[in-house]
Amino acid sequence: MTASEQTRIAYLQAMGIDVWVRREHVSTSDTEAAVGEVPSVVAASGMPMPAGDVATLDWAALEARVAGCTLCELHRSRTQTVFGVGNRAADWLVIGEAPGADEDRQGEPFVGRAGQLLNEMLRAVGMSREQVFIANILKCRPPRNRDPRPEEEAACTPYLYRQIELLQPKLVLALGRIAAQRLLGTDASLSRLRGSVHTHAATGTPVVVTYHPAYLLRSPAEKRKAWQDLLFACSVASDRA
Ligand code: URA
Repeated sequence: MTASEQTRIAYLQAMGIDVWVRREHVSTSDTEAAVGEVPSVVAASGMPMPAGDVATLDWAALEARVAGCTLCELHRSRTQTVFGVGNRAADWLVIGEAPGADEDRQGEPFVGRAGQLLNEMLRAVGMSREQVFIANILKCRPPRNRDPRPEEEAACTPYLYRQIELLQPKLVLALGRIAAQRLLGTDASLSRLRGSVHTHAATGTPVVVTYHPAYLLRSPAEKRKAWQDLLFACSVASDRA
């Protein structure tokens, strides 16, 4: 089963929709591992994931659920979860990959150097950090900032999808390849994904893709293209006014 199928099934199950899978995909040890922790079920992929009631949680209950989550191994190495921050009535939801060391320490997304650049990028199009909501694909830091693993995404994306439903943003701005590919369920390159309006299949939200600020810190020549992406995102959001 591919990562995007796993994510889709995780979402359907979080919504309380039954998904029938062949028995060999379900592992008993995962079921046992999840018992006694946060309410959970076993996804069709055999991966632990939040229980179906995630789709019914309000902001406060969702934040509490995330704070106590032990569904994947990342809970062992985190300092704290990084739920997301910002305006809960925002038009824009900005989504990165996963917390880094600074975010893990402070419990807030994009607070390090990449976060400072993100703030500048938003300011460049007349927006402030406080005006948008900022979250990540994962709520916990992967050790040494490695890429998220499929089982971590399967456990965590129902939380993100619930955030999208609660927020109902006009636009999701996906920062970088990992966020874009995971949200859109594709392996297409970032350069192919930039410059178009995509749709987040599970929630119907428009998605615009741009470079991750950490990449722009390493490749400042690309900032001009990121600026174009942000202008494009503004025009998409204003069309939905
Ligand atoms: N990079 C991300 O993708 N997210 C953060 O919160 C920080 C750095």
